[in-house]
Amino acid sequence: MQQTILVTGGAGYIGSHTCVCLLEAGYQVIVVDNFSNSNIIAPERVQQITGKTFTVHPVDICDRKTLAAVFAEHDIDAVIHFAGFKAVGESIEQPLNYYHNNIYGTITLCEVMAEAGVKTMIFSSSATVYGMNDNVPFKESAPTSATNPYGHTKLFIEQILQDVCIADPEWTVTLLRYFNPVGAHHSGLIGEDPNGVPNNLMPFISQVAVGRLKKLKIFGNDYPTPDGTGVRDYIHVIDLADGHVKALESTGKQKGVAIYNLGTGHGISVLDVVTTFEKINGIPIPYKIVPRRPGDIASSFADPKKAKNILQWIAKKTLEDMVRDAWNWQQKNPNGYA
Ligand SMILES: NC(=O)c1ccc[n+]([C@@H]2O[C@H](COP(=O)([O-])OP(=O)(O)OC[C@H]3O[C@@H](n4cnc5c(N)ncnc54)[C@H](O)[C@@H]3O)[C@@H](O)[C@H]2O)c1
Repeated sequence: MQQTILVTGGAGYIGSHTCVCLLEAGYQVIVVDNFSNSNIIAPERVQQITGKTFTVHPVDICDRKTLAAVFAEHDIDAVIHFAGFKAVGESIEQPLNYYHNNIYGTITLCEVMAEAGVKTMIFSSSATVYGMNDNVPFKESAPTSATNPYGHTKLFIEQILQDVCIADPEWTVTLLRYFNPVGAHHSGLIGEDPNGVPNNLMPFISQVAVGRLKKLKIFGNDYPTPDGTGVRDYIHVIDLADGHVKALESTGKQKGVAIYNLGTGHGISVLDVVTTFEKINGIPIPYKIVPRRPGDIASSFADPKKAKNILQWIAKKTLEDMVRDAWNWQQKNPNGYA
């Protein structure tokens, strides 16, 4: 029977790509999003890509009554929970906003789910929970810690969801720890559309390429890495989205909480990304080296074996695919969805 998945934050970057993969895999989708960091055009484009329609509720997950009405209206089988704020720097300036939106939002969602008898959730966690630990590749069993309010919200939510599963064995929760999602759907219809100057490397590079920004800032070239710039595990957003479909398929066999890294397992430096972007897309990216950003670590990449063994998931797309698709999206939408 066709399953219905409620996607919180489904209009956002990863959520919109996941909606495409869910619809293509035959799931029915319901989106809840308050559009605090997204645009109504994104779900419209998802419908254009897939040729399938779905309902979008402009609802804040902190608004219990309205959220409960969504659960009353639809027969929901599981929730994929993306909704939340995600900017590290902003979280340091506005901790209460982050704790309220991310933690109170998740607690409200869990309470509404429990009342509606929906007890299956896939949650967007992050490699940020590995903290300042430099012992790469990270296994799911590595020690966790946080250095900023955003990271703390991810850690606290992981803990809350584990406690919910202990208290009520009917719950099944999958914590997916994403590494660095980049790229866009190959159609160029949906992609990453950050507000203001991007915090993340790929949208920064594409905005320089399209002329919105003059120069890329590279934060530090004196890390103990092969070329001195930071090393990260960049993963194509479509591979990441596909990981959610695989995680969903696996929930039937699972009891309680399962944790998976979603990354490629390969560390790529900032300069590798820049030169690959230049080579594949034929555009020079002027850059300047600036001091390290507080809280950044030298190297972060996943050990993705657990997801391979249990979910039968691996990241398939290459760095070349990532830079090509990021540029295709940016070129077709120089000002994002605006
Ligand atoms: N993009 C990354 O690099 C990355 C890495 C690791 C983890 N994550 C996590 O993945 C999730 C999705 O990330 P993204 O990059 O797609 O971010 P995004 O900002 O593009 O998407 C989040 C969506 O949630 C919505 N939202 C926020 N608060 C809400 C609320 N209270 N009620 C309803 N909707 C709300 C926003 O409008 C947005 O559409 C987030 O939880 C983020 O922390 C992202």
